[in-house]
Amino acid sequence: MSDPVSVLLVSGSTRSASAGAAALRTAASVAPDGVRTELYQRLAELPVFNPDHDVDPLPPLVADLRGRIAAADAVLFCAPEYAGSLPGAFKNLLDWTVGGEEMYGKPVAWLTVAPEGRGDGASATLATVLGYLGTVVIEPALARLPLPSTAIGADGTATDDQFRAGLTEVLRAIQRHVAASR
Ligand SMILES: Cc1cc2nc3c(=O)[nH]c(=O)nc-3n(C[C@H](O)[C@H](O)[C@H](O)COP(=O)(O)O)c2cc1C
Repeated sequence: MSDPVSVLLVSGSTRSASAGAAALRTAASVAPDGVRTELYQRLAELPVFNPDHDVDPLPPLVADLRGRIAAADAVLFCAPEYAGSLPGAFKNLLDWTVGGEEMYGKPVAWLTVAPEGRGDGASATLATVLGYLGTVVIEPALARLPLPSTAIGADGTATDDQFRAGLTEVLRAIQRHVAASR
């Protein structure tokens, strides 16, 4: 049997009740067989990006981030939109990846949990940044799966069946892409 496909999940929100984080937290329970997910949880702890510090030895949390990206077969993002763009904390994380080679050629996708008509600025900016990083966007895995706070349970995961089924499909699309490129 082939190795499981590992997907690093990165929420771009620092908010404790983040819908995006809830969406990604749900992945572990809806992932298809053969997909292993890991939720990145240290966004708010990363130092502020400074090119002077993007040298050996890297700040430990940056080395940790890059190591997790390198170890993953694919990265799935979910970020809120702030003022028509990405939240600063999330852009900070992305800036820390520019100087490394881990993102180059990495299969990526992003989930939009905002309702129709919201969040498009964040998606467009993320697409631009990921393009600069030389990632490979898994187009069939790009999805809008709205997740209102009323559809998030006490355990912090999505309760809505349609959302959960949609997320399984996203992970399946990532799995197909990675399997085809092995
Ligand atoms: C400072 C700030 C700016 C925002 N700007 C926008 C915006 O420009 N467009 C938009 O669609 N939503 C905007 N929102 C709404 C958030 O994108 C929305 O609440 C999102 O669900 C938050 O994601 P989270 O639940 O994962 O933290 C803004 C929210 C905040 C706090």
